[in-house]
Amino acid sequence: MRTGATPAPRTGPGLGDVTRGRILFGGDYNPEQWPEETWTEDVRLMREAGVNSVTLGVFSWSRLEPRPGAREFGWLDRLMELMHGSGIGVVLATPTSSPPPWLGRLHPETLPRDEDGRTEWWGGRQHFSHSSAVYRRHAAAITEDLAARYGGHPALTMWHVNNEYCTYDWGDEAAARFRHWLRRRYTTLDALNSAWGTAFWSQGYGEWAEILPPRHAHYLKNPGQVLDFKRFTSDMLLECYTAERDIVRRHSPHLPVTTNFMPLWSGQDAWRWAEQEDVVSVDLYPDPRDPFGAQHGALVQDMTRSQAGGPWMLMEQAAGPVNWRGVNHPKPRGLGRLWSLQAVARGADAVCYFQWRQSRQGAEKFHSGMVGHAGPRGRTFQEVARLGGELAAIGREVTGRHSRGDIAILHDWHSWWAGAHEGRLSARVDHAEVLTAWHRALWQGHFATDFAHPEHDLGPYALVVVPQLYALTDAAVDNLLAHVQDGGTLVCGFLTGVADQDDRVRPGGMDPRLRELFGIRTLHEWWPLDEGESADTDGLRGTLWSEEIEAAEDASVEARYKGGELDGLPAVLRNGRVWYVSTLPEPHALRALLTRIAAGAGVRPVLDGLPDQVEAVRRGDLLFVLNHGRESVTVKVPGTHRDLLTGTAVEDELTLGRYGVAVLRP
Ligand code: GAL
Repeated sequence: MRTGATPAPRTGPGLGDVTRGRILFGGDYNPEQWPEETWTEDVRLMREAGVNSVTLGVFSWSRLEPRPGAREFGWLDRLMELMHGSGIGVVLATPTSSPPPWLGRLHPETLPRDEDGRTEWWGGRQHFSHSSAVYRRHAAAITEDLAARYGGHPALTMWHVNNEYCTYDWGDEAAARFRHWLRRRYTTLDALNSAWGTAFWSQGYGEWAEILPPRHAHYLKNPGQVLDFKRFTSDMLLECYTAERDIVRRHSPHLPVTTNFMPLWSGQDAWRWAEQEDVVSVDLYPDPRDPFGAQHGALVQDMTRSQAGGPWMLMEQAAGPVNWRGVNHPKPRGLGRLWSLQAVARGADAVCYFQWRQSRQGAEKFHSGMVGHAGPRGRTFQEVARLGGELAAIGREVTGRHSRGDIAILHDWHSWWAGAHEGRLSARVDHAEVLTAWHRALWQGHFATDFAHPEHDLGPYALVVVPQLYALTDAAVDNLLAHVQDGGTLVCGFLTGVADQDDRVRPGGMDPRLRELFGIRTLHEWWPLDEGESADTDGLRGTLWSEEIEAAEDASVEARYKGGELDGLPAVLRNGRVWYVSTLPEPHALRALLTRIAAGAGVRPVLDGLPDQVEAVRRGDLLFVLNHGRESVTVKVPGTHRDLLTGTAVEDELTLGRYGVAVLRP
């Protein structure tokens, strides 16, 4: 149980043991795509660019084990030596995210099935069933041999297990494991039938064998079954991770282990996963054309740092364009540097890329690399090399320091999963979008934000913000109440506290204790809003959602709906230090509202008077100032500082050019 618990501090080896005062800089290196002559050139360029860390072997399974049981380690031996001789640390990956074709051919049961029973064949990647005993056995065997061979190698600095765990499987072996998982969760079928509400539509289970993953069905699927399948999937993938982690740990107990998350990915309870990692790492690919790319980055960085509880690793980013969006744009000059330093500001002690050298073949040949098709003379490599030099210069001052938020934004995957069921009232309500909208309002208000699980200790935060937690456990409700009782301020968005952990609607449509806390006497109806529809109030314009609520006597109505069916009814309620917002205010209105609430809670922006396009982030006693705009800008930074990037003194005022950054030390 997590209630009020701070995530356990990490013991054992960590990122600090690898960085030792340097920011890790480098990326995925896939030399098996290149003749060995290129390796020497690669190393020369790596040194030129200040690369001190490469990740080897992410997709090397068929190279390492070209036939069942064969082992071809010679090429990797030579690479490990090459890296060691060049002073470049190796993060060695277990290659288990892309099994070789022979595994699928000899053991088709290792291939996952989708909801319709279709097989996911080899020919791409990640075509493995997390539930397949044969897959797990083969994955363990290659991991064991890699770990035995390289676990003590002097070039090895860290283990990277698999890559972006993200697969689902609705097949027969997954069905068997799902039943086993459910037995452990519920013990009896009565308990399962109750949790899933199987009295509805004649779904009562009389035998465990009747239970299936939520496969293709005629009409809406049982929400409890779908929710538990998502939990199960996250847990199965985690089992795959911990199995390999334990193998590599046995051979190298002195080295940390990680696996890379995808940002705000719905398939993985990353709070739980992060507890199982020595180093929390993430892959981050904001769209250079997205006007809110920097905020997306900030959100993912805040979340990753919160999961890590300290410094974390930016495992992958793109030096230029990706190749998996409809239209893929390069990064304008300076943007890669800006976004990399933004990650450092928010606690990254590693700035790495996918991948070192851009491929000439394969599905990602148009995805950029640190060395692009244009080669070392290309702008991309030139910028990468400059950044490498700068990171080397500031590493000692920066690494190991923690950057901390003043406001906690609560987020929970189980609530996200429950709220996403196809039988919900509005398909327009997307948990990740609502979360993003609230984070954006705080980011634009220049506040420093952390993320927290609803059962974590909220003590350090004067202000707790809940954009949307549709399903809350009793313990989470207790935790919110305790936060307010202890003098904290709480602001909650619509569709919060509607369901319990089984996705059972709470009596009255919202947890009664929360209704009392928010000052809601009766929640009559939800009024979702269509595309292009809005709900005006006397203070702000709401989008996406509105509610027909009746306020309790002692609650104060801060905004009322104006016009339409809800005319005169409360839209924003305040009950002492607790606020309830029954719609999604337009961006500027949400920002204004949260700024006002933060001021009331005694929470200040990182710096006063910042222009919109400038972001300020504190990391320890360092102040990072980042200009996300293309125009130069002058910012007030009271006091005397030294800019670690330029070595110049800065007094009270700072001018930053297009995409400019300063790292100020008092
Ligand atoms: C990541 C993945 C890399 C590469 C990259 C391209 O999802 O881990 O292997 O595919 O995306 O952006």
